[in-house]
This record gives sequence, C-alpha cells and structure tokens, in this order.
Amino acid sequence: MTEFLKELENKKRIIEEYMEKDLSEGGLSYNTVISAMKYSLSAGGKRIRPILMMSTYLLFKEDVSNILPFAAAIEYIHTYSLIHDDLPSMDNDDLRRGMPTCHKKYTEAMAILAGDGLLNYAFEKMLDCEIPHSREAAKYIAGASGKDGMIGGQVIDIENENKIIPLELLNELHSLKTGALIKAACAVGAILGGGSEEDIESLAKLGALIGMAFQIRDDMLDKISDNETLGKPVGSDEKNNKTTYLTYFSLSECDEKICELTLQAEKILDTFGERGEFLKKLIRYLSSRNK
Ligand code: IPE
Ligand code: IPE
Ligand code: MG
Ligand code: MG
Ligand code: MG
Repeated sequence: MTEFLKELENKKRIIEEYMEKDLSEGGLSYNTVISAMKYSLSAGGKRIRPILMMSTYLLFKEDVSNILPFAAAIEYIHTYSLIHDDLPSMDNDDLRRGMPTCHKKYTEAMAILAGDGLLNYAFEKMLDCEIPHSREAAKYIAGASGKDGMIGGQVIDIENENKIIPLELLNELHSLKTGALIKAACAVGAILGGGSEEDIESLAKLGALIGMAFQIRDDMLDKISDNETLGKPVGSDEKNNKTTYLTYFSLSECDEKICELTLQAEKILDTFGERGEFLKKLIRYLSSRNK
C-alpha cells in the first residue's frame, strides 16, 4: 500500500471511529429511527467530504480532533441526502453502499424520518462545537445543503426527468446537487483552520472543481461499473431518463473534462507547497475512482 493510501485509510478510520461513538442506540421508545440512521451510515461510504474537510484544515493546522464534529456533520448531511435520493418518489433505488436502501430495510416512512434525523443531528453537532469560526462554518454548510445548494440541485434533477436539458442547466445541476457540499467541505476546512479570505475563496474554488469532476465520474460509473463494485445500482440514470454528462459527451470526452478540472484544482494547491501534496494525490485518485 502506498503512503497516500495509508494516509487516506487513516483519515477514514478517524472519522468512522468518531461517528461510531457519536451515535449510540440505547433502548429508547423511538430507537428504530436511530438504528435506521446508523444503518445508512455504517458501511461502504467513502467519507470523501469529511476527508476533504480534514485535509484542507490540515493546510493550516496540525491536528484534526477539534473539527471532528463538523467533519461528522457533513457526512450526516450527505448520508441524509442519499437516503432521500433513493426513495421511491426520487430515484427509486434498492441498493446503497452495498446494502438494501434505508426504505427497503426500514420502510419509507422510517427512511424519511432517518434522513430528517441525520440532518437535524448535524446542526446540533455544529452548534454544540464552540471552536473559532464555528458559526461561520455552520452557516456555510447550511447554505450549501439548502435550497441554494444540494436541495436546489435535486429539484432541477427531479423536475427534468424525461427530458434533455441544455448543457448549461446540467452544469448548474451538477454544481448544486453534488458540487455545493464538496465545495463546502473544502471551504469549511479553510474557515475553521483560520485561513484568510483569499485562502477560503481559493479552497472553495478547489472544492467546486472537485465537485464537478466527482459528479461527472458518478455519471460515468452509472454506465460503466457494476452493482457489486459500486454498491449502488448501475443504470439508475437511464432508468429514470436523466440528462447526464453522457447525454452530451462520450466516455473519453468525460475523462478529458475530469482531467481538465483536476489540473485546475491542482494548480490552486501549488500555493500551499509541500502541505498541499496529500490533497493533490487525493484529487488525482478521485479522478479515476471506480466506486
Ligand atoms: C454519491 O456520493 C452521490 C453523489 C453526490 C455523487 P458518494 O460517491 O460520495 O457516495 P458515498 O458516500 O461514497 O456512498
Ligand atoms: C445524487 O445524485 C445527489 C445527491 C444530492 C444525493 P445521484 O442521484 O446521481 O447520486 P447516486 O448516483 O444515486 O449516488
Ligand atoms: Mg438522484
Ligand atoms: Mg440517485
Ligand atoms: Mg448518480
């Protein structure tokens, strides 16, 4: 295993151990919802958003322990968005992170409540965490996950099923539904790290570039991967008649686009010298990810 992969595993382990302890079930009368929340969180997620937040924070600071509530919060919000994304009224998918989707395992009502539970719990975590710049960071995440961010993107996605949308709108859709939260992960690492306005802006830009590349790759994997590797059903976009990057571009053109975005992102990291090396490797790794 390369040093990079070891470091990636290490960051993943840190956030997973934190989340495991953070959400505990305990014989409550409403325990089912906690068990559904834990179920969707428990296995198979790549934890890219918390890892990006930790990595951008480490451009400024030495130790991530103070920001773990924020890193967990963004993963809770992301997981809620996946639970709702899979519902019969949304993408209607049966497999997620290698397991039956939350509504398949726990009923549709409980999946809606588990998603809501994760969203609210994320804000409880952030409001409880009184570290420098925490208010600004929480506000950034609130905006990115709300109507002008992830939810806005999901609206464009759902309202435009069964038609081909213009490329401009597809770019907006990608940058909102996936880009906004990935951008927030990177910006919040800089905000909590005490970065300057300029740092925060350039790392937000980095996140936006990574987010766009990430969703283009997601569109590609929906076509070229298999359920077992991906842990979610391939062909979901085609089944739902979505416009994706493959509506407009061939697989190799998508690869080129991802490559372009990755190069632009790497350039931003040049200003951080040696400290930016892990993130550079992470971006390159994500550009050809298989799951
Ligand atoms: C899937 O996100 C949905 C998108 C926004 C593209 P991830 O690919 O990060 O899913 P997990 O968290 O690893 O399951
Ligand atoms: C997901 O987009 C975006 C979210 C905000 C959850 P997709 O619908 O393409 O994500 P997957 O492919 O189901 O993970
Ligand atoms: Mg969707
Ligand atoms: Mg989906
Ligand atoms: Mg997809």
